[in-house]
Amino acid sequence: MASSENDTLVTVRDVDGLRHRVRSWKKAGLSVALVPTMGALHRGHAVLMERAGAMADRVVATIFVNPTQFGPSEDFNAYPRHEARDFEMLEQAGVHVLFAPSAATMYPPGFATSVRVARLTDALCGPLRPGHFEGVATVVTKLLLQAQPDIALFGDKDFQQLAVIKRFTADLNVPVDIIGVPTVREADGLAMSSRNAYLTADERAKAPALFGAITRAAEKIAAGENPLAATAEAKATIMAAGYRSIDYVDARHAETLAQLGPTEKGGRVFAAAHLGRARLIDNVEVPLA
Ligand code: PAJ
Repeated sequence: MASSENDTLVTVRDVDGLRHRVRSWKKAGLSVALVPTMGALHRGHAVLMERAGAMADRVVATIFVNPTQFGPSEDFNAYPRHEARDFEMLEQAGVHVLFAPSAATMYPPGFATSVRVARLTDALCGPLRPGHFEGVATVVTKLLLQAQPDIALFGDKDFQQLAVIKRFTADLNVPVDIIGVPTVREADGLAMSSRNAYLTADERAKAPALFGAITRAAEKIAAGENPLAATAEAKATIMAAGYRSIDYVDARHAETLAQLGPTEKGGRVFAAAHLGRARLIDNVEVPLA
């Protein structure tokens, strides 16, 4: 198909325009993937787009810095925004439509609805970022209903977010397959993140200690060490590397996110810590012993 509507990346800012395009693809028998983002795109996002293109005929990427998932003292205003550069990256990654709505399109006056997922949001980032996952679940629900894709892709990097999205799409019978994509890392192990842009050169050099420490903790748990001892050791290593403070380093079950018991299988080690003005999160699987 050589028509420009199908082969060239176009930016769409309204829901009707998005629906019109998706409807015409579906009429032509094409499958559709959705990849939601907040922009400031990096290689990790590009991998999601490429995976989407390998799994579906058409790819819709979204860029929307969602105000409702940021707390009052968080970085909503400082969050990096460079849509022109993002557009080029999406073009190279073979994306077909960029949906970049305004806040007024997403939250018109009178907006009063939200999606709240219980239990999975009781731990890790949930209590530390009140309202965050409700903001994420609500905006992702809207994006899924706006685009009505066959599949939607999200990164393991934000593992709790992925778990929350899998839960509410199942609970609410949203007709979409949610696909998790492994974390894309820099050569030294640091998980790629839009927030890495906040790091100074000195902090950037210290940053991989987080991944190193949780990887080591996961290996020790796999070898039989008590999860609490292994994560306590990881916390000490992260602080010694120069991090400012730690929100959590926690071994939890990958599906329920409940505390991992000694000798229990199916674990993941999760961490969130502050380095300079960045709050970095990461997680790794406990390998099979
Ligand atoms: P954002 O942080 O822009 O991330 C968009 C998607 O890219 C998420 O699914 C995230 O998990 C994934 N991602 C980020 N860094 C990654 C990495 N290093 N490797 C693999 N995947 C990575 O997450 C959000 O935006 C928002 O909360 C959103 C879901 C768009 C809702 O507003």
